[in-house]
Amino acid sequence: MWDAETARRDFPVLQQTVRGRPLVYLDNAATSQKPAEVIQTVCEYYGTCNANVHRAFHYLAEEATRRYEDVRRRAATFFGAATPREVVFTRGTTESINLVAWGWGRKFLRPDDAIVLTEMEHHSNLVPWQLIAAATGARLRFVPVTPEGTLDLDALDRLLADGRVRMVAVTHASNVLGTVNPVAEIARRAHRAGALCLVDGAQSAPHLPISVRDLDCDFYACSGHKMYGPTGVGLLIGRTPILEAMNPFMGGGEMIDRVELEHSTWAEIPHKFEAGTPNISAVIGLGAAIAYLERADRAAILAWEEHLTDAALQALAALPGVRLFGSAPQRLGVISFTVDGVHPHDLAQFLDGEGIAIRAGHLCCQPLMRRLGVPAVSRASLALYNMPADLDRLVAAIGRARTYFCHGT
Ligand SMILES: Cc1ncc(COP(=O)(O)O)c(C=O)c1O
Repeated sequence: MWDAETARRDFPVLQQTVRGRPLVYLDNAATSQKPAEVIQTVCEYYGTCNANVHRAFHYLAEEATRRYEDVRRRAATFFGAATPREVVFTRGTTESINLVAWGWGRKFLRPDDAIVLTEMEHHSNLVPWQLIAAATGARLRFVPVTPEGTLDLDALDRLLADGRVRMVAVTHASNVLGTVNPVAEIARRAHRAGALCLVDGAQSAPHLPISVRDLDCDFYACSGHKMYGPTGVGLLIGRTPILEAMNPFMGGGEMIDRVELEHSTWAEIPHKFEAGTPNISAVIGLGAAIAYLERADRAAILAWEEHLTDAALQALAALPGVRLFGSAPQRLGVISFTVDGVHPHDLAQFLDGEGIAIRAGHLCCQPLMRRLGVPAVSRASLALYNMPADLDRLVAAIGRARTYFCHGT
């Protein structure tokens, strides 16, 4: 069994009291906390070998470049990419998806081509496609969400049947419903219809073992800060021939081969997509986060998180006035709910008063909120260091919040 009590000692931020109580951190889907070795790796990089990468011939630059490229190799193995050349460092999932929308979509989409998204996408996997549809004349189509919070795959087939779909971009796991979507199956259906498939892995990368080879997707996007790494770094993993065929996303230093006054040629992948000075320290910190996850028993973590999720769902369902969202059979520890008579923002503030951090709002999923018929929800989301006691405190505090807001004190 996963030993969360020992693991949480690795995370300095969790050792504090907030508002006089030991911190309960349940906002992991927004960003996870960082183990000491990630923090130390970033400090050590600045303290010993800070330099710009790929540019100079001095010792520090060589060392910084070696560490930076080591992380690319490590990430390629971790995510099952065919080669490190398929791993592009970005600022995060949002930038990775924008890179595909502009680098691939701007070049290859034609008027009346279709891009298929789903009703459960984060704004990061909606808005870039809206922009590119407006720029190219392509149309957006949406796979509906069922009442259980899963995707209607028959509707996907109907959308694919018209032969105009060029891209299916879908989240691997919903940041609202926790639903884990069958992305390998979706990629298979997309390919059969002649479309590419992009998987938004922001929520899956921290929790599920990922092999882009097994998913057989064309692009996989994720963020370092949600998988125990630093902010400001993420990954785009793409297939070599597709990355090679794409246009660069941003222009500048490092991404070029030859520059004339009027035009330029591009560097090989992945450098073609890494214009300017990258977030070197964050990349190196991400390497430490991946090393941390590689050493951990990820199957045991997943089983632990599943066990906590089931227990939390049961305890919340037993509270009067609590409505839970999402009941997919395959799900992560992302639990969204409302409490009758208590606005989600008020609840989050009340819980904060007891040292409990959750998220409240539309969770960057406004269309999904409309589908669910609510303006906002509260969300508790789990990570490898959460304990049953965290959930006991959450449930007890929600009960007190309901008494406070609904009956006065
Ligand atoms: C499903 C999903 N996609 C994309 C994102 C965007 O990630 P980032 O803000 O790190 O770019 C998030 C962040 O919450 C997310 O949950």
